[in-house]
Amino acid sequence: MTLPKVELHHHLEGAAPPALIRDMARMRGADIGGIFGPDGGYAYRDFTGFLAVYEVATSVLKGPEDYARLTGAVLENTAAQGVVYLETFISPDFCGGRDLGAWREYLHAIAEAARVAERAHGIVTRGIVTCIRHFGPAMARDAALCAAETAGDFIVGFGMAGDERRGVVADFAYAFDMAREAGLGLTAHAGEWEGPTSVRAVLDDLRVDRIGHGVRAAEDPALVERLAQTGVVLEICPGSNIALGVYPRWSDHPIARLRAAGVKVTVSTDDPPFFHTTMTQEYDRLAQTFGWGEDDFAALNRVAAEAAFCDTATRAALLKRLEFADD
Ligand code: ADE
Ligand code: ZN
Repeated sequence: MTLPKVELHHHLEGAAPPALIRDMARMRGADIGGIFGPDGGYAYRDFTGFLAVYEVATSVLKGPEDYARLTGAVLENTAAQGVVYLETFISPDFCGGRDLGAWREYLHAIAEAARVAERAHGIVTRGIVTCIRHFGPAMARDAALCAAETAGDFIVGFGMAGDERRGVVADFAYAFDMAREAGLGLTAHAGEWEGPTSVRAVLDDLRVDRIGHGVRAAEDPALVERLAQTGVVLEICPGSNIALGVYPRWSDHPIARLRAAGVKVTVSTDDPPFFHTTMTQEYDRLAQTFGWGEDDFAALNRVAAEAAFCDTATRAALLKRLEFADD
């Protein structure tokens, strides 16, 4: 599908081509062979294993220059999928160990690489600073401080990824309050591994604007109604959910039911090489499974553009590029 696409849920390290990570490991003399399967791709058994492999792959990225190289490679691949606007999760835990000075250096390198990619490939990128839930609330507060101090043209949001089966959502409220006060848009992973209660928790305790995944809200009609009424946007990554076993088959995925119930749904890849997917493949599978056509995808992209955390001028330019301008 050659449509211009908007992608809102994407982890920068999670999009790292395996060849790039292998090359970085070789340069550093790090032995990380165990994270790759016989086909050369990332290999893991389940979600816990995925998170562990993710952290090992990330461990070979050592400084701002490595992140500049990563960003350039990832954005070239993402633009080749027709993505014209991307929001990507970047974590101060991995970029400078939550030290504000170090974080600024990483961010400078990433934002500059994003500007280069915009000139070369036309893709507009914004960053969402992300805390990692299984690292705990104290580290999340440090990540939120990094986010608040660097909020601006490039950093437009704050989020939470990691293992949603661990910890208590309310313990992260302070971090989210700090980010909200800095004017950042808010999103948190929920309803991927835990059920509707986890979705309610991020709505009530963190007051998020969007939810990463959120698909298991579909198990609770009252919650689906609440999402539809309040217009909270779900960043749905169907290929990720299938690859990790949240649903056994594409036909079991609730994205079409949620959309039919009036919930604002969007489509993203999450961690494309980990899940052997691309934006084009996501669209193709949705078209095959649910019979969606160009009008459906254009409508999804409009929802995504309207839910983007960027400033109004960037959004207006994006809507124009998607041909949804008022004029
Ligand atoms: N980090 C990267 N991808 C993730 C996912 N799908 N869920 C939680 N944390 C993640
Ligand atoms: Zn994710």
